[in-house]
Amino acid sequence: LTAKKGFPANFLWGGATAANQIEGAYDIDGKGMSTSDYAAYKDPYASGKVNNFTFNVTSRELEEYKANPKQYLFPKRWGIDFYHRYKEDIALFAEMGFKVFRLSISWVRIFPTGLEEQPNEAGLAFYDKVFEECAKYGMEPLVTMSHYEMPITLTEKYNGWVSRELVPLFEKYARVILERYKDKVKYWITFNEMNMNLNSLYTGAGVLEDLADDKLQAAYQASHHQFLASALAVKAAKEICPDAKIGCMINQIESYARTAKPEDQLQALKSNQLNMFYPDVQVRGEYPSYINRYFDENGIVLKTEPQDDTILKEGTVDYVAISYYMSHVTEAREDAMKLAGTFDSPIKNEYLPKSQWDWPIDPMGLRISLMKLYDRYGIPLFVCENGLGAHDVISEDGFVHDEYRIDYIREHVIQMKEAIKDGVDLMGYTTWGCIDLISCGTSQMSKRYGFIYVDQDDEGKGSKERIRKDSFYWYKKVIESNGEKL
Ligand code: BG6
Repeated sequence: LTAKKGFPANFLWGGATAANQIEGAYDIDGKGMSTSDYAAYKDPYASGKVNNFTFNVTSRELEEYKANPKQYLFPKRWGIDFYHRYKEDIALFAEMGFKVFRLSISWVRIFPTGLEEQPNEAGLAFYDKVFEECAKYGMEPLVTMSHYEMPITLTEKYNGWVSRELVPLFEKYARVILERYKDKVKYWITFNEMNMNLNSLYTGAGVLEDLADDKLQAAYQASHHQFLASALAVKAAKEICPDAKIGCMINQIESYARTAKPEDQLQALKSNQLNMFYPDVQVRGEYPSYINRYFDENGIVLKTEPQDDTILKEGTVDYVAISYYMSHVTEAREDAMKLAGTFDSPIKNEYLPKSQWDWPIDPMGLRISLMKLYDRYGIPLFVCENGLGAHDVISEDGFVHDEYRIDYIREHVIQMKEAIKDGVDLMGYTTWGCIDLISCGTSQMSKRYGFIYVDQDDEGKGSKERIRKDSFYWYKKVIESNGEKL
């Protein structure tokens, strides 16, 4: 028994994206309209202070967007035109030495309304080409089946995942893509950040919140249906491609107690339980006992069917993937449980700096999270998102000098390495938005995460030229040295 000294030789270094934030080409080759196609740009600075979540859509807004689309900007419809530029983009990833590229499949390219019996061949063929391009460079695709988009038809017909009807529709989609890509894709994630249903039910679950009687009830009912769909997809993967690895994913937000007061400590424990509730179900295959009291106290009564217990038990995941951007602080206060497990935190951590979007920067929190999750589950972990959104500028010399991004990622890589030395089994690291893309929360282009600059503004104007930032050359060295040259 010896301690690990650093990143394992087969560590999967790479970058992460999502279909709705990069592809564009929203209305060609038979693609249907998705929920993200109706995420209109809303000025995130309208209130004078940045609003990170302009992405919710109400039933009235949806009607208006459909009636008068020309009056709004829908940046997720144009993305960064990866649909036509995937070869160039993947070549740039290969130049950095990516071992893995995380991307998602757009459900509506495969089933335009979700209701068809037969898949759309042109949609399937697009991802064949993308995976073949990755294979040319020996890059493994890591594929998210559902990343914050779904057929708008299923929102309009069923109000999204609050309806159980979506479970078999998703299973059909999952089976089709597993079957089609079984020889091309080894790593899968079922749902992106299912726990963010607590923040935006529209984005995570296609639910128009104003049509739901009770938001919290709807969030957990929708999550229950996604748990079932995820478990059925895992089960299908075990049959169709038994050598593949299929994981769940959460947005990991560690909550620290504000003080050593036992009441604050207890609150931190409970807030963290709500954050880990999702992998608790997906790794263990059953609901944890602590959730019963929470459901009781919040009047949440889930509609379930007798076979659900078996479905969950049979669909447990191989690994836990996390996105990690920040930590929170909590204390025993009235709204603490309301905030628990969400992206919102009114309490500042005086020890941490913040990003330009007010996200606390806490590299050590990543190590703490990894150690905690590994203690809890004892199965491999994957950091499938982490990165810094910033206002990058092209300097007079024509380059983008993003040393702040290098600093951010370096510090997080150091902490991952420490976690590995502490015994954590970490499979890989894909930084978020390895190429600039449309922000999920604000639909801005100007919130940039990439190693590669994309010449395009918030209105979609620009040449779309790709420019290597300073961080591009730095990350290349990190990968080359397997995390030694930082
Ligand atoms: C994650 C999402 O929560 O955060 C991504 O999975 C998203 O889709 C990322 O882009 C960063 O958030 P934002 O709002 O800065 O794009």
